[in-house]
Amino acid sequence: MSALPGSAEGTAVTGLDSSPVEPAPLDLPPLTEQTALEAAEIIARYPVPRSALLPMLHLVQSVQGYVSPEGVAFCADQLGLTKAEVGAVATFYTMYKRRPTGRHLVSVCTNTLCSVLGGQRIMDALSADLGVHHDETAADGSITLEHAECLAACDYAPVVTVDYEFYDQQDVDSARELVAALRRGEKPLPTRGAPLTDFRGISRQLAGFSQHGDDASAAAAVDNPGEYGPTLVGLRLAEQRRESAPPMPRPSTPAPDTDEPAATVAPTGRTGETPGREAADARVAAADTPAEKAGAAGSHPDAPEPAGRSLADQDDGTETPAGTEPGTSGQGPGKA
Ligand code: FES
Repeated sequence: MSALPGSAEGTAVTGLDSSPVEPAPLDLPPLTEQTALEAAEIIARYPVPRSALLPMLHLVQSVQGYVSPEGVAFCADQLGLTKAEVGAVATFYTMYKRRPTGRHLVSVCTNTLCSVLGGQRIMDALSADLGVHHDETAADGSITLEHAECLAACDYAPVVTVDYEFYDQQDVDSARELVAALRRGEKPLPTRGAPLTDFRGISRQLAGFSQHGDDASAAAAVDNPGEYGPTLVGLRLAEQRRESAPPMPRPSTPAPDTDEPAATVAPTGRTGETPGREAADARVAAADTPAEKAGAAGSHPDAPEPAGRSLADQDDGTETPAGTEPGTSGQGPGKA
């Protein structure tokens, strides 16, 4: 969870003058003239300087390993923002670290699917091996361990990332060996994607600076394909069974924007029908297969609401969701 600027933890990031600031590590590399030149290069990519804040924060992390108070002040100075504005962004996103990070950042997904397949056991084992908890760094500075929410790789669960590179389908033993190799200074190949760098290296990439000498080597590294086996299981099963998804419903043709009042729309001759309903009727009638017919019927305006949809989801302009009327405790706006 992100600390708010002004909280005991947040002040370490924002560096607000009136707040106690967590002292920076003695060996913290300074932000130099070179950093300022690279910041200027980032800023030049955007029409408005403040749009460069996110990659600028990654740039600071690539030099110092976290978003230090000095880094917050640097970004504010370069972008014409206040330190509070920079701190508000830096404390919102979990990829911006508020304490010095180890050489590698190991993230263990403990969200639902990974967790039921062993993600929490992996997290517990690594925590015990490293002697740290979430968002803490091992005493030798090698690893910062964190648990992560869904890493968008549920088909490869349980998933561990190192510096945001994927190590798929881990178990306790493989994850332990992975972390032991990292502590020995090795860089095991990720399961897919680009080769492993380190936390500062990936931060530099996220700031938009390639670690590769030319475009060809960058493409070769980044485009390293995985096998995608688990991702394609459903597709292959469907092929075996000769199944296919129903077609996506085609949007009805919008009425021409003529600024004419609605009453001038050509009469359809079908009392009570709107053009949208007529088009939906036509799609159902034209469907060739049962699957197509089901898809067209499902997108028909008269189709019953799927189970679980609430009244508030319906937006036909005639209903006010419960609790949103003026004078109630709801948060919604009152009707004009
Ligand atoms: S639940 Fe772990 S990647 Fe989605």
